[in-house]
Amino acid sequence: ASSQIIPQALLDWYDVHARVLPWRSPPGTPPPDPYRVWLSEVMLQQTTVMAVKDYFARFTARWPSVTALAEAADGDVMAAWAGLGYYARARNLLACARAVAATGGEFPQTEAALRALPGLGAYTAAAIAAIAFGERAVVVDANVERVVARLFAIGDPLPGGRKAIRAAAETITPSSRAGDFAQAMMDLGATICTPRNPRCLLCPLAPPCAARAAGQAEAYPVKPAK
Ligand code: ADE
Repeated sequence: ASSQIIPQALLDWYDVHARVLPWRSPPGTPPPDPYRVWLSEVMLQQTTVMAVKDYFARFTARWPSVTALAEAADGDVMAAWAGLGYYARARNLLACARAVAATGGEFPQTEAALRALPGLGAYTAAAIAAIAFGERAVVVDANVERVVARLFAIGDPLPGGRKAIRAAAETITPSSRAGDFAQAMMDLGATICTPRNPRCLLCPLAPPCAARAAGQAEAYPVKPAK
Protein backbone atom coordinates (compact mmCIF):
# COMPACT_ATOMS: atom_id res chain seq x y z
CA ALA A 1 0.00 0.00 0.00
CA SER A 2 2.59 2.60 1.06
CA SER A 3 4.67 1.70 -2.01
CA GLN A 4 1.76 2.99 -4.08
CA ILE A 5 1.61 6.45 -2.50
CA ILE A 6 4.38 7.84 -4.68
CA PRO A 7 3.06 6.66 -8.08
CA GLN A 8 -0.47 7.66 -7.06
CA ALA A 9 0.56 11.21 -6.11
CA LEU A 10 2.56 11.49 -9.33
CA LEU A 11 -0.25 10.18 -11.56
CA ASP A 12 -2.75 12.54 -9.89
CA TRP A 13 -0.39 15.41 -10.73
CA TYR A 14 0.07 14.13 -14.30
CA ASP A 15 -3.70 13.97 -14.84
CA VAL A 16 -3.73 17.76 -14.41
CA HIS A 17 -0.28 18.86 -15.61
CA ALA A 18 0.81 16.47 -18.37
CA ARG A 19 2.50 18.35 -21.18
CA VAL A 20 0.52 18.15 -24.40
CA LEU A 21 2.91 16.70 -26.97
CA PRO A 22 2.24 15.48 -30.53
CA TRP A 23 3.39 11.92 -29.84
CA ARG A 24 1.33 11.50 -26.67
CA SER A 25 -2.21 10.52 -25.87
CA PRO A 26 -3.82 12.33 -22.92
CA PRO A 27 -3.44 10.79 -19.44
CA GLY A 28 -5.66 7.78 -18.86
CA THR A 29 -6.57 7.30 -22.56
CA PRO A 30 -5.48 4.45 -24.88
CA PRO A 31 -1.82 4.54 -25.88
CA PRO A 32 -0.59 6.17 -29.08
CA ASP A 33 0.57 4.31 -32.20
CA PRO A 34 3.83 2.41 -31.40
CA TYR A 35 5.41 3.88 -34.53
CA ARG A 36 4.91 7.40 -33.18
CA VAL A 37 6.19 6.41 -29.73
CA TRP A 38 9.29 4.80 -31.23
CA LEU A 39 10.02 7.71 -33.59
CA SER A 40 9.62 10.32 -30.84
CA GLU A 41 11.77 8.41 -28.36
CA VAL A 42 14.59 8.03 -30.88
CA MET A 43 14.39 11.75 -31.76
CA LEU A 44 14.27 12.78 -28.08
CA GLN A 45 17.38 10.87 -27.08
CA GLN A 46 19.86 13.71 -27.49
CA THR A 47 17.50 16.48 -28.54
CA THR A 48 15.07 18.77 -26.68
CA VAL A 49 11.29 18.48 -26.86
CA MET A 50 11.15 21.93 -28.51
CA ALA A 51 13.50 20.97 -31.33
CA VAL A 52 11.89 17.56 -31.90
CA LYS A 53 8.32 18.84 -32.43
CA ASP A 54 8.84 20.13 -36.00
CA TYR A 55 10.89 17.13 -37.12
CA PHE A 56 8.33 14.75 -35.68
CA ALA A 57 5.53 16.50 -37.57
CA ARG A 58 7.48 16.42 -40.84
CA PHE A 59 8.49 12.77 -40.52
CA THR A 60 5.00 11.53 -39.65
CA ALA A 61 3.40 13.58 -42.45
CA ARG A 62 5.82 12.20 -45.02
CA TRP A 63 6.12 8.64 -43.61
CA PRO A 64 2.93 7.87 -41.69
CA SER A 65 3.85 4.29 -40.79
CA VAL A 66 6.89 2.18 -40.08
CA THR A 67 6.43 0.37 -43.42
CA ALA A 68 6.35 3.70 -45.27
CA LEU A 69 9.56 4.75 -43.55
CA ALA A 70 11.15 1.37 -44.31
CA GLU A 71 10.58 1.99 -48.04
CA ALA A 72 12.13 5.47 -48.00
CA ALA A 73 15.44 6.10 -49.74
CA ASP A 74 18.35 6.44 -47.33
CA GLY A 75 19.23 9.89 -48.70
CA ASP A 76 15.69 11.21 -48.18
CA VAL A 77 15.69 10.14 -44.53
CA MET A 78 19.18 11.51 -43.90
CA ALA A 79 18.14 14.82 -45.52
CA ALA A 80 14.96 15.00 -43.40
CA TRP A 81 17.05 14.31 -40.29
CA ALA A 82 19.53 17.12 -41.10
CA GLY A 83 19.73 19.52 -38.16
CA LEU A 84 18.79 16.98 -35.48
CA GLY A 85 22.38 15.78 -35.12
CA TYR A 86 23.79 12.45 -34.03
CA TYR A 87 23.28 11.00 -37.50
CA ALA A 88 23.92 7.44 -36.36
CA ARG A 89 20.39 7.68 -34.95
CA ALA A 90 18.96 8.21 -38.44
CA ARG A 91 20.86 5.25 -39.84
CA ASN A 92 19.69 3.08 -36.91
CA LEU A 93 16.17 4.41 -37.39
CA LEU A 94 16.08 3.12 -40.97
CA ALA A 95 17.67 -0.22 -40.06
CA CYS A 96 15.09 -0.67 -37.32
CA ALA A 97 12.15 0.35 -39.57
CA ARG A 98 13.30 -2.15 -42.19
CA ALA A 99 13.66 -4.93 -39.60
CA VAL A 100 10.11 -4.28 -38.34
CA ALA A 101 8.74 -4.10 -41.91
CA ALA A 102 10.53 -7.34 -42.84
CA THR A 103 8.78 -9.19 -40.01
CA GLY A 104 5.24 -8.06 -40.80
CA GLY A 105 5.24 -4.36 -40.00
CA GLU A 106 4.22 -4.60 -36.35
CA PHE A 107 6.51 -3.57 -33.51
CA PRO A 108 7.24 -6.31 -30.97
CA GLN A 109 5.30 -5.67 -27.78
CA THR A 110 7.72 -6.53 -24.98
CA GLU A 111 10.80 -4.76 -23.65
CA ALA A 112 12.97 -7.85 -24.31
CA ALA A 113 11.80 -8.25 -27.92
CA LEU A 114 12.13 -4.52 -28.63
CA ARG A 115 15.68 -4.57 -27.27
CA ALA A 116 16.60 -7.08 -30.00
CA LEU A 117 15.79 -4.59 -32.80
CA PRO A 118 18.78 -2.91 -34.48
CA GLY A 119 19.98 0.21 -32.67
CA LEU A 120 17.29 0.05 -30.01
CA GLY A 121 18.92 0.58 -26.60
CA ALA A 122 17.80 -0.22 -23.06
CA TYR A 123 16.12 3.14 -22.46
CA THR A 124 14.21 3.17 -25.76
CA ALA A 125 13.02 -0.43 -25.38
CA ALA A 126 11.71 0.27 -21.87
CA ALA A 127 10.06 3.54 -22.93
CA ILE A 128 8.23 1.97 -25.90
CA ALA A 129 7.18 -1.09 -23.86
CA ALA A 130 5.68 1.14 -21.16
CA ILE A 131 4.21 3.94 -23.29
CA ALA A 132 2.91 2.00 -26.30
CA PHE A 133 2.15 -1.38 -24.70
CA GLY A 134 1.57 -0.66 -21.00
CA GLU A 135 4.32 -3.03 -19.82
CA ARG A 136 5.64 -2.38 -16.32
CA ALA A 137 9.08 -1.48 -17.64
CA VAL A 138 11.48 0.64 -15.59
CA VAL A 139 12.17 3.74 -17.69
CA VAL A 140 15.18 5.76 -16.54
CA ASP A 141 16.56 8.72 -18.48
CA ALA A 142 18.58 11.62 -17.05
CA ASN A 143 15.45 13.43 -15.83
CA VAL A 144 14.10 10.34 -14.08
CA GLU A 145 17.53 9.66 -12.59
CA ARG A 146 17.53 13.08 -10.94
CA VAL A 147 13.99 12.73 -9.57
CA VAL A 148 14.71 9.29 -8.07
CA ALA A 149 18.11 10.25 -6.63
CA ARG A 150 16.44 13.16 -4.83
CA LEU A 151 13.34 11.28 -3.71
CA PHE A 152 15.48 8.64 -1.95
CA ALA A 153 18.57 10.84 -1.29
CA ILE A 154 20.76 8.32 -3.11
CA GLY A 155 24.30 9.51 -2.41
CA ASP A 156 26.36 7.05 -4.50
CA PRO A 157 28.07 9.19 -7.15
CA LEU A 158 27.29 8.65 -10.84
CA PRO A 159 27.91 6.61 -12.83
CA GLY A 160 28.08 3.82 -10.20
CA GLY A 161 25.04 5.26 -8.45
CA ARG A 162 22.87 4.39 -11.44
CA LYS A 163 22.47 0.87 -10.08
CA ALA A 164 20.92 2.08 -6.83
CA ILE A 165 18.82 4.66 -8.68
CA ARG A 166 17.42 2.01 -11.02
CA ALA A 167 16.65 -0.32 -8.09
CA ALA A 168 14.79 2.51 -6.32
CA ALA A 169 12.91 3.40 -9.54
CA GLU A 170 11.82 -0.22 -9.75
CA THR A 171 10.23 -0.02 -6.28
CA ILE A 172 7.95 2.88 -7.27
CA THR A 173 6.97 1.75 -10.80
CA PRO A 174 3.27 0.83 -10.72
CA SER A 175 1.82 -2.15 -12.58
CA SER A 176 -0.99 -0.08 -14.07
CA ARG A 177 -0.52 3.11 -16.12
CA ALA A 178 3.17 2.33 -16.61
CA GLY A 179 3.37 4.63 -19.65
CA ASP A 180 1.74 7.55 -17.89
CA PHE A 181 4.01 6.97 -14.89
CA ALA A 182 7.15 7.02 -17.06
CA GLN A 183 6.08 10.21 -18.82
CA ALA A 184 5.00 11.83 -15.56
CA MET A 185 8.50 11.24 -14.16
CA MET A 186 9.97 12.82 -17.31
CA ASP A 187 7.65 15.82 -17.06
CA LEU A 188 8.38 16.28 -13.37
CA GLY A 189 12.12 16.24 -14.08
CA ALA A 190 11.77 18.65 -17.00
CA THR A 191 9.46 21.19 -15.35
CA ILE A 192 9.68 20.93 -11.52
CA CYS A 193 12.59 18.76 -10.38
CA THR A 194 15.08 20.68 -12.53
CA PRO A 195 18.88 20.47 -12.15
CA ARG A 196 19.10 24.00 -10.68
CA ASN A 197 16.48 25.72 -8.52
CA PRO A 198 14.01 22.86 -8.32
CA ARG A 199 10.48 24.11 -7.68
CA CYS A 200 9.83 21.96 -4.61
CA LEU A 201 6.89 24.12 -3.53
CA LEU A 202 4.99 22.92 -6.62
CA CYS A 203 6.14 19.31 -6.45
CA PRO A 204 3.60 16.53 -5.87
CA LEU A 205 6.41 14.38 -4.45
CA ALA A 206 7.72 16.95 -1.96
CA PRO A 207 6.10 15.20 1.06
CA PRO A 208 7.99 11.90 0.62
CA CYS A 209 11.17 13.47 -0.85
CA ALA A 210 14.24 12.71 1.31
CA ALA A 211 16.51 15.28 -0.35
CA ARG A 212 13.86 17.96 0.10
CA ALA A 213 13.45 17.07 3.78
CA ALA A 214 17.19 17.63 4.23
CA GLY A 215 17.07 20.91 2.26
CA GLN A 216 19.50 19.29 -0.18
CA ALA A 217 17.54 18.73 -3.40
CA GLU A 218 20.15 20.36 -5.62
CA ALA A 219 22.91 18.11 -4.24
CA TYR A 220 21.46 15.06 -6.04
CA PRO A 221 22.33 13.14 -8.11
CA VAL A 222 25.90 13.24 -6.80
CA LYS A 223 28.35 13.82 -9.65
CA PRO A 224 31.56 11.81 -9.97
CA ALA A 225 34.57 13.26 -8.12
CA LYS A 226 36.76 15.20 -10.54
N1 ADE B 1 11.85 12.69 -23.33
C1 ADE B 1 12.00 11.46 -23.83
N2 ADE B 1 10.82 10.84 -23.99
C2 ADE B 1 9.87 11.71 -23.60
C3 ADE B 1 8.47 11.66 -23.52
N3 ADE B 1 7.79 10.58 -23.90
N4 ADE B 1 7.83 12.74 -23.04
C4 ADE B 1 8.54 13.81 -22.65
N5 ADE B 1 9.84 13.92 -22.69
C5 ADE B 1 10.51 12.88 -23.16
